[in-house]
Amino acid sequence: MNINQNYLKLQDSYLFSVIAKKVNDYREANPDKNVIRMGIGDVTLPLVPAVTEAMQKAVSEMGNAETFRGYGDEQGYGFLRQAICEYYAAKGVSLQQDEVFVSDGAKSDLGNILDIFATENSVLIPDPVYPVYVDTNIMAGRSISYMDGNEQNGFLPMPDSGTRADIIYLCSPNNPTGAVYNRKQLQAWVHYALENEAVILFDCAYEIFVADKALPTSIYQIDGAEKCAIEFCSFSKTAGFTGTRCGYTTVPHALVRGGTALNKLWLRRQTTKFNGVPYVVQRAAQAVLTDEGLQQIKTSIDYYLQNTKIIADTLTSLGIWFCGGVNAPYIWLKCPKNMSSWEFFDFLLETAGIVGTPGAGFGRNGEGFFRLTGFGNRGNTEEAMGRFAKINMPL
Ligand code: MLT
Repeated sequence: MNINQNYLKLQDSYLFSVIAKKVNDYREANPDKNVIRMGIGDVTLPLVPAVTEAMQKAVSEMGNAETFRGYGDEQGYGFLRQAICEYYAAKGVSLQQDEVFVSDGAKSDLGNILDIFATENSVLIPDPVYPVYVDTNIMAGRSISYMDGNEQNGFLPMPDSGTRADIIYLCSPNNPTGAVYNRKQLQAWVHYALENEAVILFDCAYEIFVADKALPTSIYQIDGAEKCAIEFCSFSKTAGFTGTRCGYTTVPHALVRGGTALNKLWLRRQTTKFNGVPYVVQRAAQAVLTDEGLQQIKTSIDYYLQNTKIIADTLTSLGIWFCGGVNAPYIWLKCPKNMSSWEFFDFLLETAGIVGTPGAGFGRNGEGFFRLTGFGNRGNTEEAMGRFAKINMPL
């Protein structure tokens, strides 16, 4: 018996587990301190009424012999896939139901999708970015190249003719920096992928936060993307489903490599290894996409964006460099006084009782940066920023 040696190449723990442990240790040692969490991007507002009503109705159906449901289609119920297609149609994107696959979240799909690609494929990943892309490729033993995101390129790396990659990850709005690709930039990526016969894995889990109407919220708004891109999205941040679990992945029929439609492979993978999302949860997700649901979640999204504004205003008043927050729930700031990301993490926790996420956890280029989220409740966000404004930064 041999273990998968690739796991030994990973860092000991997943970034957010490391933070959770550090915070728990701190709380145990300082039980009287009120710690405000602005680290992991977990939502705080409850599910909206349209969603809970749909869930309650679905629960009743499950308790009644006439309406009870057992196994559903692994790729999701038609009613939800249809609602997702209509959501895309409103963005000017035409999808067929069987191009959409419902799952328990974008994180799972982003890892699982690698099953359909050969290990020999080269992978190009932005740095800094959501750590799941890197970790899942290390687990699979794939060779990874990184593309630099930095202040000069607005944390939006662009294709470079000298780099060859088979699989390219793009995250827009970006986690952690909040940067969003515009149409021209995404078009350049689509050209590059088509020319190189690469596949783009486009993570748009935060698309609902894009307030600027000129910015794309789906890669399929870009010509040719259906021939080179798989898109991942989720109800987690859109509608507060972090604990409810539902996401969706789109694999267009037009995406063919080596004579094989990737849609067919993903269907084969999902029907074999996945048994679908609970009926109650899929009804809840369907309710998000009704007019009523969309209106209700807009209030939550506006609330979170107002939180990021409070954070942004504080940083501006302190003269701290930052980006993001306008079209995304994250603020990406430069650690004051040249502190390293983890130094600033400890400093902020100890002096102000605020938990953020060290930029170094998102890659080499994240060193010296720090992420704060707008997902807290208003009172905590205001309290945290009040404390932040008062701390004495070390020299
Ligand atoms: C984050 O804080 O980056 C996210 O909550 C992680 C996730 O969505 O899995």
